[in-house]
Amino acid sequence: MNMLVTGGCGFIGSNFIRYLFQDAPDFNGRIINIDSLTYAGNLENLTDIAETFPDRYIFVHADICDAEALAAVFSDHGIDTVCHFAAESHVDRSIVGPDAFIRTNIIGTFNLLEMARDKKLKRFHHISTDEVYGSLGPDGRFTEQTAYDPSSPYSASKAASDHLVRAYFRTYGLSVTLSNCSNNYGPYQFPEKLIPLMILNARSGKALPVYGDGKNIRDWLYVKDHCRAIWEIIKHGALGETYNVGGDHEMENIRLVEMICDLMDDMAPLPGRSPHRGLISFVKDRPGHDRRYAIDAGKIRDELGWTPETTLENGIRATIQWYLDHSEWIERVQSGAYREWIQQHYQ
Ligand code: NAD
Ligand code: TYD
Repeated sequence: MNMLVTGGCGFIGSNFIRYLFQDAPDFNGRIINIDSLTYAGNLENLTDIAETFPDRYIFVHADICDAEALAAVFSDHGIDTVCHFAAESHVDRSIVGPDAFIRTNIIGTFNLLEMARDKKLKRFHHISTDEVYGSLGPDGRFTEQTAYDPSSPYSASKAASDHLVRAYFRTYGLSVTLSNCSNNYGPYQFPEKLIPLMILNARSGKALPVYGDGKNIRDWLYVKDHCRAIWEIIKHGALGETYNVGGDHEMENIRLVEMICDLMDDMAPLPGRSPHRGLISFVKDRPGHDRRYAIDAGKIRDELGWTPETTLENGIRATIQWYLDHSEWIERVQSGAYREWIQQHYQ
């Protein structure tokens, strides 16, 4: 297998590549990771993999919107499988500047599909999000049949890319599968997203900004469980099908932040042991903030035998420990550009 992974230097992409090399004994192919290294991409996430598997891991610094660069990658490396993660992924940034989201998430996906369509690929797997389904009330969960109803420029651009992928299946017979997953968390997540932001702020005794009333609900999925699901879908998923992947761990944001605070009290106490909960600060709500997401992962469970294995408490504890153990990674990630975003957004 010569698998093109797009966005492999980001959070989920780098965890997926690591998963294949370290935890998937039935993977014996090569990975060609193409990433344009935006603020969210970090080559360092895979330094050890690049050193350990020099013949099976190749990095190409390129933009998925650059059709010529993509054509070269396809022909140089005999690509037969694509796993497409590359995206602009942060909702708050999409509200401030939607352009990059339209470009990468829609045009970039279109470019890849065009490149793939006459190549007789074994598989084109597209990673999407539960946010395409919009907001839930207190009851029910998203199934693969739920109608699309995106609220943010981010989720609308992901919805557009999903439609393109399905259209290439129906029109050109491209061997596609799709997965729509809930909120991921775990090692290597860029600290602009809720969980790593709260861990890092709590570690430094800074305010923990909770949007609105804090009662928005997300369904949390440990990234390694997600990576296992993607690999199962690539191996055994039915062509043209979509699989919802969720953690089966719904929680209000405020409860989750309190849980992080309580674990931090134990794992990284503040001076004088003052409780981290004292740092919680309610801030202005996000415009168009979806109230509740919840995934019904019955299809992937019944058809492919996948279920999430990591409990929320174990996953959060492992994630906190990872951030506490990787202060050099954090220092390097918190560059000037990162500080600027945090200053502008939470001023
Ligand atoms: P991320 O922002 O951490 O990483 C995105 C990666 O894509 C980065 O390495 C970046 O450099 C790269 N990239 C961006 N634009 C590019 C371009 N034009 N060309 C090449 N590379 C480019 O994102 P993530 O959290 O790892 O998300 C990966 C995928 O999973 C995305 O498609 C996202 O929509 C989806 N997803 C994420 C979550 C989540 O909770 N993180 C949930 C559901 C779905
Ligand atoms: P986020 O990690 O941005 O993921 P998404 O918007 O894709 O679900 O946010 C998760 C939830 O946490 C969401 O309801 C918004 C909320 N949130 C805060 O309350 N404060 C913050 O500083 C951030 C970044 C998010």
